[in-house]
Amino acid sequence: MKNPAPDRLTPDIDRVLFDRQAIEARVRELGREIAAIYDHGPGDECGLTLVPILSGSVIFLADLIRELPIKMKIAVVHVSTYPGTATQPQSPRVLVELAGDVAGRDVLIVDDILDSGRTLRRVQAMVQERGARSVRSAVLLRKPGKAPPDVRADFVGFDIEDLFVVGYGLDYDNHYRNYPHIGVLRATVTS
Ligand code: IMP
Ligand code: MG
Repeated sequence: MKNPAPDRLTPDIDRVLFDRQAIEARVRELGREIAAIYDHGPGDECGLTLVPILSGSVIFLADLIRELPIKMKIAVVHVSTYPGTATQPQSPRVLVELAGDVAGRDVLIVDDILDSGRTLRRVQAMVQERGARSVRSAVLLRKPGKAPPDVRADFVGFDIEDLFVVGYGLDYDNHYRNYPHIGVLRATVTS
């Protein structure tokens, strides 16, 4: 290829925390950890429903489910906690209600990052109200010590410092989701 496409994203990134190879390796491990919990062997319908929280979880979801060779359904929900240019959490707003099979099923909520825990708390309550048999959650990233102790993730990819990060699905003002690594946004972009 003679003329590679110009990169409009990298100049806005201060530093990369996890490159795509590191993410890929960790997602594969997470897949194994999760499958070990839900895979009950041949012929045993485990009744698993993944509940990805849109939009941040889409890339993590796409990679994670291909590391889970077990029967599953998907029921999406769209919650916005950081609308527009916000880098501090607001009250979670449900933009699309939980759509899919949850009652009587084992539910694994999937999100990109656990920060203040407001989003996960909201979705956990929704799933419980719909009569799930069990509720667990998997997040790619977690900012430790920020969420209250009752809002916890069962599967965590990486713990990170309390920084605003983008890439691999995570956004700022709905941009940078397609950045293939996870990086810290330059302060000049948000100011
Ligand atoms: P929480 O409700 O504060 O735990 O935040 C969780 C949601 O906010 C996630 O679904 C993310 O989409 C978003 N979020 C939290 N921290 C960040 C960040 O550092 N970068 C981008 N999005 C974030
Ligand atoms: Mg989100």
